[in-house]
Amino acid sequence: MGRKLLLENINVPGINTFEVYRQHGGYRAVEKALKTMSTDDVVEEVKKSGLRGRGGAGFPTGMKWSFLAKPEGKPRYLVCNGDESEPGTFKDRFLMTHIPHLLIEGMIVSSYALGAKTSYIYVRGEMMPQIRILERAIAEAKNAGFLGKNILGSGYDLELYVQPGGGAYICGEETALIESLEGKRGNPRIKPPFPAISGLYNCPTVVNNVESIAAVVPIINDGADEYAKVGIGRSTGTKLISASGNLNKPGVYEIELGIPVEEFIYSDEYCGGIANGKRLKAVVAGGSSVPILPANLILKTATGESRLMSYESLAEGGFATGSMMGSGGFVAFDEDQCIVRNTWNFSRFYHHESCGQCSPCREGTGWMEKVLHRLEYGHGKMSDLDLLVDVAKKIEGNTICPLGDAAAWPVASAIRHFRDEFEWHVSHPAEAIERNYGLARY
Ligand code: NAI
Ligand code: SF4
Repeated sequence: MGRKLLLENINVPGINTFEVYRQHGGYRAVEKALKTMSTDDVVEEVKKSGLRGRGGAGFPTGMKWSFLAKPEGKPRYLVCNGDESEPGTFKDRFLMTHIPHLLIEGMIVSSYALGAKTSYIYVRGEMMPQIRILERAIAEAKNAGFLGKNILGSGYDLELYVQPGGGAYICGEETALIESLEGKRGNPRIKPPFPAISGLYNCPTVVNNVESIAAVVPIINDGADEYAKVGIGRSTGTKLISASGNLNKPGVYEIELGIPVEEFIYSDEYCGGIANGKRLKAVVAGGSSVPILPANLILKTATGESRLMSYESLAEGGFATGSMMGSGGFVAFDEDQCIVRNTWNFSRFYHHESCGQCSPCREGTGWMEKVLHRLEYGHGKMSDLDLLVDVAKKIEGNTICPLGDAAAWPVASAIRHFRDEFEWHVSHPAEAIERNYGLARY
């Protein structure tokens, strides 16, 4: 069994309450940090742990914290990004629902480290039950003296608020989230300046994902060295994976970074193989914002070694920048799935969610959706494939925020790896419609 650092106590009855969470060692990290560590000690510990942002970008958390500006007379803020909306990603919702005090504890320790006296948890607007759960957990923590004035007699004050999100995918982009938190429309800002310099109300702000903040608790409890012993290379610790698609056991799993992808898909400890005895066709390993890969490439590297569930191994052989680990939204497609149909579906999503500020994204996502729609419904041309690749290339790297890249990558990678299937849709339109819908629509 792999080590569990976040979900160790997830099956304990009542772990969502302060009392039971505390009985199982909860809030020890707050006591340790506030009573025995300086703010710099906590930052150093998180840096040493090698923790990388669990929202998708994989940016080193401790480094982000050390970039935080400290101008005289200006407050600093910590904002937790709980606007989880990436298709195929539901691990933050799981954590907030079942073990909310882990997040609250992480928020207290992290806010202390950053010198924030007011912090926010921005939760996706549709997640009303989770918003209520967090509000109750905050009230419990406050009653017990872990929030508010002079926490545990340390002289440190912290107020923690839950803010319901604006109801758009783009509000999860950190600068759009900040705009939304300020009461405005969630339009991304141009970076730099990064929030660490000028964020909420133009004050220095750190925006961290729910899972990243929760991971600070075991780092402080057990020490950075212990945390870094788990994982592989620069992918330290554990990662929550939201597994969905044609799997025998979809769900949220905590894995030690570095286990083979094959083990994750086929072992009984995790997904238990592909449903209905089918063969694996493709995988999106990190939410819809990363390329789609065929089974042979997701299971083995170019040199025939096992591909691992780590930032590095999943990036190798990928496209553009970043890692395919992304947010950990692992979607498996079996042999019966139509890649054209799924690519169109992703495209439809990005077109709908584009905020419209930059033309390559606003126009390009709509264009890709239209072309994919006609390919899916039997009106496509062979030249559409190169057209799609061309539009995707023109979006990539030319937009204010990563939504543009996220829209372009799945399309470009689908055509690169499954070109024959796209061509078949053009040459056999009636059969393609018959296969996907069971009847000829046109
Ligand atoms: P990013 O790479 O631009 O930034 C990563 C973080 O590092 C940010 O907080 C940024 O402010 C900070 N940073 C980078 N360079 C810095 C510098 N020089 N100084 C100070 N701070 C610096 O990526 P971003 O936009 O934060 O995230 C994109 C990822 O989010 C995508 O890869 C996607 O996988 C993921 N995503 C996750 C979603 C979810 O629901 N979990 C939804 C949509 C996207
Ligand atoms: Fe808006 Fe798209 Fe530009 Fe991002 S890339 S700012 S979502 S138009």
